Order: sequence, then structure tokens, then C-alpha cells
Amino acid sequence: MIGVRSPVGAFSFVAAAALALSSCSGVQSALAPAGQQAEHLARIFWWMTGGTLAIWLLVIGIALYAAYTPARKDLVGARRLVVWGGVIVPTVVLTLVLCFGLALIPRFVDPAAPSDLSVHVTGEQYWWRVKYPRAGAAPLELANEIRLPVGAEVDFLLDSTDVIHSFWIPSLGGKVDMIPGRQTRLRLSPRRTGTFRGVCAEYCGASHAWMAFSVVVQERAEFERWLERQAAPARTPSEGLAREGRDVFTANGCGACHTLRGTLSSGVVGPDLTHVGGRESLAAGVLPNHEAGFGRWVVETDRLKPGVHMPAFGMLAAHELRALAAYLESLE
Ligand code: CUA
Repeated sequence: MIGVRSPVGAFSFVAAAALALSSCSGVQSALAPAGQQAEHLARIFWWMTGGTLAIWLLVIGIALYAAYTPARKDLVGARRLVVWGGVIVPTVVLTLVLCFGLALIPRFVDPAAPSDLSVHVTGEQYWWRVKYPRAGAAPLELANEIRLPVGAEVDFLLDSTDVIHSFWIPSLGGKVDMIPGRQTRLRLSPRRTGTFRGVCAEYCGASHAWMAFSVVVQERAEFERWLERQAAPARTPSEGLAREGRDVFTANGCGACHTLRGTLSSGVVGPDLTHVGGRESLAAGVLPNHEAGFGRWVVETDRLKPGVHMPAFGMLAAHELRALAAYLESLE
């Protein structure tokens, strides 16, 4: 093992510390909170880190004191130290931490607390089905992207169709398992606008690590406009490559698995593609959202995401693929 005393050791220590600290910020960090629940969790983390550090320093101090002072035969004092330091103090500290943590739980899961918005998210292998319930209409469905108004109290209703996934937006709060056959809930209260990254936090198969989603927290008016645009049917291309691409989509049976609202494509196996061109990323965070990304995804599906249910469409001719990509990209 490299000691911190050598220059190499010191450099490694500083590099590791810098690396560790750099991961404390960014779009997927529980230590850069953008929501009320994440703030609570970050606070617990820092209190526990501070407490742990204090206890560690105390223990090391006592150990050094014992190592460098001449041996004494004060057995009564030693026994008292063991009882206090080894039994009473840890019991009191752990009980306090437990009570503090338990007291926070009702704020995260209280089903009676009024909410401004419900979002229903289903874990699939390996993507996220997102539904916004609407009064007097079918829920608005999209995939791999969630938008929220800043300042709202949002109830997430979570479930799964295949295996256990775990829904986690580190910047906004804690994680909750998505379990087949039952619905779990999570309350999140975004307090800062921005684009954040959510992930699956439970190993669910070969492409567990390729299962991310975008969370865009917007001002209320901007969010309402976005929701209105999402409610519109899929754009009909009037001419050119995109129109050709729509025919490729239909001819290859893509509509058996995917829905394009306002067209005959109404499959529910795969993600709803009505406004796929307007999303932050493709294939649940795997590729950037542009024409080349669509082209790659359609041909290299199983290579980019092992175990995914969608087959690769390697039989498409180059111009068909270009047209299909142009069409999908135009669906904003
Ligand atoms: Cu879904 Cu891991």
C-alpha cells in the first residue's frame, strides 16, 4: 500500500480526494440538492459525516495516548472507559441518529399530504414509461423524460411490469423500489430549476446501467406549455425525407410496438414516440437526440443495449434508415 508520507502517496491522496469531491456536484448528485427531500438527506449525510469524523478523531486520540504513555495498572479507569466509550456513547449516538432519520420518513411518504401533481412511472427493461394523468382524458404518455414545475409537491406512483427496478433522482430525493404487482409512492418537491439525471438503482438485468432518464424542472408557465405540446398528436410530415421515413415506419411494422398518437400506430410494448424528437436523449440516456443517434439506435439496438426487447433493424437500406431517422427527429 502507498503511504501518504511519500510524494506519490500524497499525490494519490489529493487526486482521490479531488475526484471524490468533484462527484459531489453536477446533475446526478445527492450532495447538490435541488429539492426539499434531497436537502434533508444531504443534511443527514453531513451531520453523520461530521459526527463520524469527530468519533474517529477521539478514538485515534485515545489510541495514540495509550500507545505513547507508560503502562499503568488502573484497571477500574480502563473498564469505565470501555463501558462508556464502547457501550453507552455508541448506543446514545445511534439512537439519536435513528430517531432523526425515522422522524423524516413521514414527510417523504405521507399519502394524505396534498400534492399538486401525480406522475405515474413504470420500470421496463430497460426504459421508463411515464404517464401524466389528465382529468376526463386518457393519461398523457411519454418515455425516459419527466418534467416538473418548480415549487410543486409531486407524487410519484411507481410500479414495474417485469423485474424490480428502483427509481432514483439523486438531486431531488431518495430512491424507491418499483415492484411488479404493487404500487409504491414517492413524494418529491423540486425547489430549483434545471435538468437533472435519474437512474435505476436496482440491478435489473444486462442493461441496468443503460437505464437513465432526464428530469427537467421548469417554471410553472413553461411546464404548462410543454404539457400542452405533449398533448398534441404526432406531427405529420408534409414532404421530403421525413415523409418517406413515415412510410418506412409504417411498412416495417414499427407501429405494432410503438404509439404515435393521431396515427394508426398504437403499440404499447415499446416507448410512445409521439414527441420523441423533442426529448433530451434517446434510448433512456444512451444516445444524444439527433438524426445520427436514431440511425445508430435502429441498427445497433442489441449492441448498444444488451437484452433489450426491440430487435435491430439491420435490414434497412441506407436511404430508408436516413429517412426513418429524419422522420423520428421531426417528431418534436
Ligand atoms: Cu432497471 Cu436497474
